[in-house]
Amino acid sequence: MSRRTFRVLALLALVVVGAGGVWAVVSITTDRPVTYEPIEDHFKYGSIGSEPGGRLLSPIGGALPPYWIFTALPSICSDRLPNGYATFGFITEEGHDLPIGVSRRRRLGIDQVGLNCAVCHTGTVRETPDAPPEIVLGMPANRLDLQAFVRFVLECSLDNRVTAEAVIGRLPEENGPSQFERLLLRFGFIGRLKSTTLNLRNRIAPVILGDDVPAWGRGRVDTFNPYKSVQFNWDLTALPPDELIGASDYPSIWNQQPREGMHLHWDGDNDSVDERNLSAALGAGVTPVTVDHDNLRRVREWIWTLPAPRYPYQVDQALAARGEPLYQQLCATCHADHRFRDGVVSGARVGQVEAIETIGTDPYRLNSYTPAFAANQYALYPDSPYRFSHFRKTNGYANHPLDGIWLRAPYLHNGSVPTMRALLEPPESRPVTFYRGYDVYDQVNLGFVSDVAAADGQVFTLYDTRVPGNASTGHVYGTTLPDDDKRAIVEYLKTF
Ligand code: HEC
Ligand code: HEC
Repeated sequence: MSRRTFRVLALLALVVVGAGGVWAVVSITTDRPVTYEPIEDHFKYGSIGSEPGGRLLSPIGGALPPYWIFTALPSICSDRLPNGYATFGFITEEGHDLPIGVSRRRRLGIDQVGLNCAVCHTGTVRETPDAPPEIVLGMPANRLDLQAFVRFVLECSLDNRVTAEAVIGRLPEENGPSQFERLLLRFGFIGRLKSTTLNLRNRIAPVILGDDVPAWGRGRVDTFNPYKSVQFNWDLTALPPDELIGASDYPSIWNQQPREGMHLHWDGDNDSVDERNLSAALGAGVTPVTVDHDNLRRVREWIWTLPAPRYPYQVDQALAARGEPLYQQLCATCHADHRFRDGVVSGARVGQVEAIETIGTDPYRLNSYTPAFAANQYALYPDSPYRFSHFRKTNGYANHPLDGIWLRAPYLHNGSVPTMRALLEPPESRPVTFYRGYDVYDQVNLGFVSDVAAADGQVFTLYDTRVPGNASTGHVYGTTLPDDDKRAIVEYLKTF
């Protein structure tokens, strides 16, 4: 070989190796969510940036292991979870390997999964037990037991049966992970996963594991306590035990436009729609580093005008017409009326906060949001245009508009009253215990069927109003009316 040929070959080799290196670096540093053109699909399956980023496994997204492990866990720990993730009330659809509310994104060369808005803000409803569930986007996730899900993921990830071999043995023949991911799986990744998971588990244990704090059950999440530990790094064991109780019902998120400027969240702690969206994203596991503002904006613009679904069953129009003046007299000042779905904000106190002494409902959720927490929220994006400036500590619960209220049962911020008819009973006559998590509709009482313990392979939550944080006290409006009048108000509320 002449010296010249050698030089050319050497140069060529360098170029090839260099290009390979560049390719490897590019593919590992690429941040690529799976994208969905239709907004409904983006809402259900798209990424808002909650997948782990920054470090190989951030403690936040660390609650959810990477895609290939996430999809293998139910089969590895099948004794804990015989029917897969659907057991927790996740909604699954034909043609999708992940449930609604779980997104996929490639970061740092690894396929990650994260949660998006739909996991807590999509539910199902049906007329009869035999009918197929109808998926309603934007309604509360009435079936989801997020706490049981997180417990499973933490416990199974730490299970001795989760090994590189067990995961690799479950990879699909086609469309499996990249060579890079296979290498990681073989060399040390599972060990890392376990140590990050253990770290996260120990931090959020006081509010997620164990029985010190009453279980959230289906349809609820503690809005702020996990956030205190995961986002702000607080030591939960140093907080007063009562502050760690704060389970809240999932609200609906449709029709946001007329809500701008109202003091919402259950305790009315924020009057900006954008900040409520962003803080919700943080709750889903997004961090200031990973947040995907463009994808978040798509959701924001869509829920701005997303209509509240109309009540699809029979309405007795005459009875509803009798209920309207009663409602106008007893309720409309605080809640607006049936025209709110069209943007008409009637009622002087809508979107204002009712002091806890007046409203008299359970105080735990209110108390779990503290002035110290608010101060930490302000420090979160100090130099960014997204910096929070609208949060505040309040002294009560907010007067929410009631559009699409038929789908928002059980009622009150802690979901302690199963139906509208029960809410119109005096507190001492409301159900002491009931089940939540079923999606069959109760047309008489306006709410979901709440006397069935299990169905379709799912065990529902036995909700006990005597447990701290679960009280169904207060909100006594309309409770002394004759039965006929109560039925009339319930009928009128079907037109919301
Ligand atoms: C982990 C579950 C969860 C996820 C994920 C989630 N939310 Fe929520 N969201 C809630 C809960 C619970 C509340 C009520 C908070 C409270 O006041 O305690 C809420 C409240 C809201 C509200 C205010 C509703 C009102 O009328 O008071 C909006 C708007 C909202 N979320 C939008 C979003 C958006 C947009 C996303 C995605 C970026 C999202 N949420 C993700 C659970 C979630
Ligand atoms: C003085 C203001 C006020 C009046 C009057 C009032 N409410 Fe309320 N309402 C509230 C507040 C505040 C809450 C939130 C309480 C909580 O969640 O702890 C609430 C909650 C509700 C909820 C639960 C909403 C949800 O998403 O779970 C319904 C339903 C409701 N009210 C219906 C009515 C009806 C019907 C009337 C009239 C008979 C009425 N309210 C009168 C202030 C009022």
